[in-house]
Amino acid sequence: MRDPISNPLTSVTLKNMYSDLISYYEDRAKEYEKIYSKAERQSDLLVAAQILQDLFAGKRVFEIACGTGYWTEIIAKTAHSIVATDINDAVIEVAKSKIYSPANVNFQIADLFKLENTNKYDSLFGGFIWSHILLQDLNTFIDIANSLAEKGGTVVFMDNNYVDGSNLSITGKDSVGNTYQTRTLENGTTHQILKNFPSEIFIRQLLANKVSDLNFINLQYYWIMKYRVL
Ligand SMILES: C[S@@+](CC[C@H](N)C(=O)[O-])C[C@H]1O[C@@H](n2cnc3c(N)ncnc32)[C@H](O)[C@@H]1O
Repeated sequence: MRDPISNPLTSVTLKNMYSDLISYYEDRAKEYEKIYSKAERQSDLLVAAQILQDLFAGKRVFEIACGTGYWTEIIAKTAHSIVATDINDAVIEVAKSKIYSPANVNFQIADLFKLENTNKYDSLFGGFIWSHILLQDLNTFIDIANSLAEKGGTVVFMDNNYVDGSNLSITGKDSVGNTYQTRTLENGTTHQILKNFPSEIFIRQLLANKVSDLNFINLQYYWIMKYRVL
């Protein structure tokens, strides 16, 4: 039997990785928010919601990869306004079916790697997208995120800690060190999905000299990172 962890993905698989990831989330749109029903994560989710509401209170927020608007709805309780974007129409449609208040919320379909929006915002938020960025693209990803916030503005990312028994196990690792999970949708299809679990030390090293006031909050199931744009 092959060791799945040391089994590198082929370059062809890697080349199609982002398009596979995007179509996976398109197909998952209607079932996506079941992930937020996991019993063991409920107290972390409450804490995270409070942290995000405090961080974005009164702010003009640009959100990348907003998905079905789960966090948009939470942030809208305290933010001034949110421009929430995602590459997938299917998730934006789910997001648009909700009511957001009191913040003014606008949704746009946009690829975060090809944003044409040149406005700058008080704050940027990206929930559960960091883990889906190839390690070799993280510097570009961070530069894009930082370019959307004003100087001194706040950038916030939230993502998963790997917790055995709560997260799907890692079933693949490529030559760069990106890790992959095998995920099954309710329609029975299976997908190899890029999912990295960076350590706080890795993130701090990556962001050194690029940002200021980095604050890393480690919950049990999630991490939340906040920093200021130089
Ligand atoms: C794990 S979901 C997170 C959704 C939401 N932020 C949340 O936390 O519930 C990842 C989202 O990233 C979106 N996405 C993936 N690649 C993207 C890209 N290049 N530009 C914008 N959105 C992207 C997917 O469509 C999906 O909705």
